[in-house]
Amino acid sequence: MRILLYRGDGVIEPWARDFAAELPDAETVVWQEGERAAACDYAVLWAPTPELLDQLGNAHLELKAIFLMGAGADALLKFGDALPPVPIIRLGDAGMAEQMAEYVAHAVLRYYRRFDDYERQAREGLWRPLELPAKRDFTVGVLGLGKLGVPVARILRQLGFPVRGWSRTPKDLPGVACHAGMDQLDGFLAATRVLVCMLPLTPETSNLLDRARLSRLPEGAYLVNVARGAQLAEPDLLALIRSGHIAGATLDVFRNEPLPAPHPFWSEPRITITPHISALTLREEAVRQIAAKIKLLESGENVADVVDRARGY
Ligand code: NDP
Ligand code: OXD
Repeated sequence: MRILLYRGDGVIEPWARDFAAELPDAETVVWQEGERAAACDYAVLWAPTPELLDQLGNAHLELKAIFLMGAGADALLKFGDALPPVPIIRLGDAGMAEQMAEYVAHAVLRYYRRFDDYERQAREGLWRPLELPAKRDFTVGVLGLGKLGVPVARILRQLGFPVRGWSRTPKDLPGVACHAGMDQLDGFLAATRVLVCMLPLTPETSNLLDRARLSRLPEGAYLVNVARGAQLAEPDLLALIRSGHIAGATLDVFRNEPLPAPHPFWSEPRITITPHISALTLREEAVRQIAAKIKLLESGENVADVVDRARGY
């Protein structure tokens, strides 16, 4: 069996080493730009070039499936019909859910306990205890109740926050007020004090967080976006922050990454920026998961986390 490996950032040798250890009978080949791809059974990719996808689609390759080194499939699905007609399998959690839960819990607690205000006060040399908001009014609304959204909702419940969730299909989660579909989005937003976006980027979720929807949040609401930058209309958020309707935002993802140097977000003190690190791919866990799925496929069994191309995630 041959496995082709490629990462857009070029950091591929450790992956090759780990795959060789996990699947000693397989041959791993690292694809290089400008090279002709060798026939392979599986491709394990992140941020592939159009040239590589074109080569993978060639009939001479015996490709059985493409594995992604991440959870989101949007960067691959954007190639549409240029993609080889094989299953695309993304990472399912693989250590990311715990990181997401940590990141979002930190952001929500920071706003609830007003650590952002205390940071500002400290810079001004102010010693001034502030009133604590009522926790029962500090409802967190989680958009997306999937592999990562559910553990986030769960930890927020454990911290005592009222939690609401929104997904495409109806869900039943203990302690979480679940909503589904566009019809229920406005009501969901109206009762959400901290909005957390954990949705995949699809045609339906692109620009979902625009001025109209963000305006449905109550005055003084917060936004945490850990999903994809293209889901947020960035100028709309800025306008709502400047008008005071949105009190602050923690953003891990952006329309253009890295966030360009002359971007107004950099100088807006009520926006906290992190460089797409809310849930990093943990290589060892990812390799273990992908190798286990390859073994299942080789023995004719089904695997989890197959991307539904029609749905877009
Ligand atoms: P899942 O596919 O497991 O879950 C997606 C959730 O979103 C599901 O609950 C799904 O609903 C819901 N959803 C999808 N489309 C819609 C829609 N149109 N309306 C309402 N709900 C919708 O994904 P994961 O939880 O694994 O990952 C979510 C995203 O997080 C990834 O796609 C990626 O973009 C992002 N991510 C970001 C990282 C970072 O470091 N910033 C790291 C990893 C992931 P239903 O349950 O009904 O299908
Ligand atoms: C992912 C990501 O989707 O890193 O895994 O954003």
